[in-house]
Amino acid sequence: MSLHLGDTAPDFTQDSSEGPIHFHQWLGDSWGVLFSHPADFTPVCTTELGLTAKNREKFAARNVKVIALSVDPVESHTRWIKDINETQGVTVNFPILADADRKVSGLYDLIHPNASTTATVRSLFVIDPAKKIRLTITYPASTGRNFDEILRVIDSLQLTEYHSVATPGNWKDGEDVVIVPSLQDPEILAKKFPRGFRVVKPYLRYTPQPNR
Ligand code: BEZ
Repeated sequence: MSLHLGDTAPDFTQDSSEGPIHFHQWLGDSWGVLFSHPADFTPVCTTELGLTAKNREKFAARNVKVIALSVDPVESHTRWIKDINETQGVTVNFPILADADRKVSGLYDLIHPNASTTATVRSLFVIDPAKKIRLTITYPASTGRNFDEILRVIDSLQLTEYHSVATPGNWKDGEDVVIVPSLQDPEILAKKFPRGFRVVKPYLRYTPQPNR
């Protein structure tokens, strides 16, 4: 099944390294990141899961729960987690779905047969508290993800969700943002942006990052 932005993230129940996960219930009111790994005991994935553990507080500060997926059983995940902890200097502190029957891989279209018939691609989904998919990125198995970029996109999504602003190209936390074009009412603009905004063109209005 091919998923698009704005679709409801498919719900499922699946085993994990922390016991069975009922996905929507597990997400609760949080944002979520679900990301897939080709297989256990692979080099790139080992580093990515280490980075996920290292960034735990940054995800938590953004009200984001993180869950990984690999198409191996729990027993394999348990042995792999020991290696991740040892080699990456972390304690894995989030569940890894054991998708041996590929139930979740099917729901989220994670097997791309022309890339590999057995391994999942390196896809990542950001899911909002309404369970809507807000971002998808898919990398080949051999390219590790950039966790600074994942956090940056979550910041951007949350700025749009909570402050009616969008983020320009190459935007970084702390830099000016742009007001979404749909917002035109002068009273609302004055209320939402008390520090003012700079009109370059009617559709290009810069304002200081509202939550800074
Ligand atoms: C991996 O570490 O997951 C990986 C590395 C090279 C090719 C495919 C996967």
